[in-house]
Amino acid sequence: MTQTEPQTHAAESATPVVAAVPRINITMFCSTQVTSATMKQVVIDRRMARAHVDIREGSIMAAAQAYSQATTPDVLVLETEGHRDQVLSELSQLAQVCDPSTKVILIGHVNDVILYRELIRQGLSEYLVAPVHQLQVIDAISSLFNEPGADPIGRIVAFIGAKGGVGSSTIAHNVATLASGEYQVDTIVTDLDLAFGTAGLNFNQDPAHGIAEAIASSDRIDQTMLERLLTKCNDRLNLLSAPAQVEKSLGIEDDTLEPIIDAIRSSAPLIILDIPNLWTVWSKQLLMGADDVIITSTPDLASLRNTKNIFDFLTAARPNDKAPLVVLNQVGVQKRPEIPVAEFSKAIGVEPTVVIPFDAHVFGTAATNGQMLAEVGPKSKAAEQVAVLGQLLIGKNPDVPQTKGGSALAKLFPMLRKK
Ligand SMILES: Nc1ncnc2c1ncn2[C@@H]1O[C@H](COP(=O)(O)OP(=O)(O)O)[C@@H](O)[C@H]1O
Ligand SMILES: [Mg+2]
Repeated sequence: MTQTEPQTHAAESATPVVAAVPRINITMFCSTQVTSATMKQVVIDRRMARAHVDIREGSIMAAAQAYSQATTPDVLVLETEGHRDQVLSELSQLAQVCDPSTKVILIGHVNDVILYRELIRQGLSEYLVAPVHQLQVIDAISSLFNEPGADPIGRIVAFIGAKGGVGSSTIAHNVATLASGEYQVDTIVTDLDLAFGTAGLNFNQDPAHGIAEAIASSDRIDQTMLERLLTKCNDRLNLLSAPAQVEKSLGIEDDTLEPIIDAIRSSAPLIILDIPNLWTVWSKQLLMGADDVIITSTPDLASLRNTKNIFDFLTAARPNDKAPLVVLNQVGVQKRPEIPVAEFSKAIGVEPTVVIPFDAHVFGTAATNGQMLAEVGPKSKAAEQVAVLGQLLIGKNPDVPQTKGGSALAKLFPMLRKK
């Protein structure tokens, strides 16, 4: 059985991407409290939101007994504390009741290469050595559904403003330009501000209705259709733009975006989501499902409150993910009373990743001409701060080991991932 590493474009991304697990049934049999506790962390992870998971006590024999009458789920995760002979004998009993299409992942307590080889030879999907980390388990499960040669899994970076007009879209578009230019990463910008989106203007592109058509055909969207809906900005930068029309009020149903995001995710290694300042089921879902979230804020009380609320919500709801990054923008407007950066940081409990000054000339020229900040003011503080953000998000991160041809995650969890 061949295993593929999830494709993370490790050379380009700072954090490993573990794909979401599809709509499948998973049953886990845990024989130790430690593994059982880890599995509870697995279940609450955003990447597992589509799967149905059942956690039970016991080991291989408990599973064999349970399934002597019932049908086996899509994936069985079993913990065993047994040694080689016991494990092999118990698994052969399970095999008699296990549906051939069920994929089995075993968590063992012995680091035994001979056992591992024998298990894989017998068709076991994966053997992990305890103690396991929650992301390692999710990675093992999601890898089962990414066949060799499967489409890459793009990294999703979601931008949202703490209120309207704070500069979230401008910063998102500038980061996308850096990614596609300086870092040579194929990037798709998706403008989700249907009526008022500015991506078309900022990239100086003719209006296209990419996202509106995608939403209208969301039940049958695939990569071929998506390709047709994208507007090409440069060799590596594509835009799924908003219609920016007010004649029709386009609603987004709760689950409409899921197949669209899946299709986009299979089409490019980096997806920049430009999410409007809205708190709806779909905007929340997009933020929940993103690999990185950037909240752009301004130094005023309403922004501060909203940033704290969004930050706290996402940090609690995404326990296995990095906390959102905060960008403090439009700082230092003349004669305007502002919340000082130190006080702002203290109140939200985190330092802004970058602080961008108010710069009417650079931002105004960029917006009016449909240009990027680095073109208009290459030496400006704003361009410099956006570059810092881009480096953090897309550049190589020395803390994350980069592997040749393998995912960063494989390096972090070097167990018996590869034959
Ligand atoms: N630091 C800044 N200094 C001056 N103008 C800015 C700054 N950041 C953003 N702007 C301007 O503010 C306006 C709103 O920006 P936009 O990116 O559309 O905000 P959002 O997406 O948060 O609603 C734009 O005209 C933009 O050029
Ligand atoms: Mg916007």
